[in-house]
Amino acid sequence: MCGIVGYVGLPDQPNRSHFALDVILEGLRRLEYRGYDSAGVAVVDGDSIGFRKRAGKVAALDEVLAVQPLPDSLVGIGHTRWATHGGPTDANAHPHVVDGGKLAVVHNGIVENYSELRKTLVARGYEFASETDTEVAATLLADHFNTDAAGDLTKAMQLTCQQLEGAFTLLAIHASAPDRIVAARRNSPLVIGLGENENFLGSDVSGFIDHTKQAVEMGNDQIVTITATDYEIIDFSGNPAEGSPFTVTWDAAAAEKEGFDSFMDKEIHDQPAAVRDTLLGRLDDEGHLVLDELRIDESVLRQVDKIVIVACGTAAYAGHVARYAIEHWCRIPCEVELAHEFRYRDPIVNEKTLVVALSQSGETMDTVMAVQHAREQGAKVVAICNTNGSSIPRESDACIYTHAGPEIAVASTKAFLAQITAAYLLGLYLAQLRGNKFSDEIRQILEELAAMPEKIQEVIDNEEQVKALGTEMANASSVLFLGRHVGYPVALEGALKLKEIAYIHAEGFAAGELKHGPIALVEEGQPVFVIVPSPNGRNQLHSKVVSNIQEIRARGAITLVIAEEGDTAVDEHANHVIRVPKAPTLMQPLLATVPLQIFACALATAKGYDVDKPRNLAKSVTVE
Ligand code: G6P
Repeated sequence: MCGIVGYVGLPDQPNRSHFALDVILEGLRRLEYRGYDSAGVAVVDGDSIGFRKRAGKVAALDEVLAVQPLPDSLVGIGHTRWATHGGPTDANAHPHVVDGGKLAVVHNGIVENYSELRKTLVARGYEFASETDTEVAATLLADHFNTDAAGDLTKAMQLTCQQLEGAFTLLAIHASAPDRIVAARRNSPLVIGLGENENFLGSDVSGFIDHTKQAVEMGNDQIVTITATDYEIIDFSGNPAEGSPFTVTWDAAAAEKEGFDSFMDKEIHDQPAAVRDTLLGRLDDEGHLVLDELRIDESVLRQVDKIVIVACGTAAYAGHVARYAIEHWCRIPCEVELAHEFRYRDPIVNEKTLVVALSQSGETMDTVMAVQHAREQGAKVVAICNTNGSSIPRESDACIYTHAGPEIAVASTKAFLAQITAAYLLGLYLAQLRGNKFSDEIRQILEELAAMPEKIQEVIDNEEQVKALGTEMANASSVLFLGRHVGYPVALEGALKLKEIAYIHAEGFAAGELKHGPIALVEEGQPVFVIVPSPNGRNQLHSKVVSNIQEIRARGAITLVIAEEGDTAVDEHANHVIRVPKAPTLMQPLLATVPLQIFACALATAKGYDVDKPRNLAKSVTVE
């Protein structure tokens, strides 16, 4: 979704290595992973604003700048836009420059009451060059700047924000206040970066990670004014407010491909570390599971009588996996609901409900809204999130962070495994707290979890076989996925990966459902992945899935079977067997998902697609 960068530097610095434009373009490139369809920059240029914007990638903006350069300014803002109001055109791209070329604004989010505001402004003689809600916000800001705020950009922003409805991050520069950026946020991301004689703004820290690791998180409904040497936060009523400083623990290299062909490929390989790091530091001296971040009163957690997991996309499938474990370990009914369905279903949620919001980015607006709704109903909300300082943890009662590191590729991989791991930790913690499991049982499961990174690595080490299958099947028009029990959400996730990056028809089914419909899809040459449960788990499930393989093979399917080492029962019915190490039933998703990710990545690559930036998709969907 939209990426935002802002920069203010101090004039007259000897040995200056960069100007606003350098920092902003670099930041926009780092934020490309959020997904966007146009890009633009604006800098203070004497007594006016210089700006360039283009539909397309940052590279297209670079081309314009090569022909029509902007001056070496020390104050500027930049934006990558993911179209909401108005298509992805040059005119609709940000920044929007108004007030006779003196005020530039970039914006992320949606101003919901923009058409009413626009009518009022038109009635007062204002004209608009684009169809966007952003130009309306910019015009309103200019209006305040020149009237009741009397040239005070911060005051003008405050008055503007009081009139805006919806979710937004806004950054503004004005040629008459040339040493500052004023920015505001409501339900939309914005982080401050602190440098020496220079300060930054970004949708997330990747926007300025090349320059500083010192960052400040802002609250909702707050405005910040940054100059080269200072920052000041107020709320929308003008009262002083505090930000929360934090230090970024990863560096720019972590956001690079590190020699892999794509971020997706790299992130698949990051998975052993992602699971390992998510498990780090969770045991106290006596071997008890501790979740320091879970700052919800134990008595409240003991009374929980229902868990509802809310999430979207891949995160929702991680929730489906976690449900099997949580119900099994805690004996608490657990539902999984797509976040965008949850709120509108009028769900039965009260003080005894624990809502778990899963999100890699922490910015998925549907999930933010579900969290807000749950809390309004009195439920406690625990976020499981990969992004520090993002909206979902902030809006929740507590957060268990996954430590997967930045996930850049749009299609989620390592975050999925880390989310399952963190949700398992939560399930075990509740089981420990409520006495559903003895300490030694919990320790045993934690040991099983701790053994998973090495096993995931084994699956990755075997990637050539799966890559070859992906390449070989590049012309398939459809791939089906079957799984049972925890293998069912794995099948759904395998299908989603293929849809997202290879643009082919792919569907996941519960294997037991095969005879109720999906088997009609099977014809000669139809590739079907089957995730086979361990024969050491619930044995009747294993044999049922083996029968499913027989049934589809008999109808001409090409069967690609994911089975654990030593499970020879599958051999005679499989065209291809992909082996994963032996693991307890509930741990198998951490292994079985990996070949499906590798397969999708190889198949999409063979088709010549950019696996990191699939068409029409955004990494972080910050609108409902
Ligand atoms: C988008 C992304 C998906 C992701 C989903 C949820 O749709 O393209 O890859 O799974 O959002 O994102 P979240 O950041 O909340 O996990």
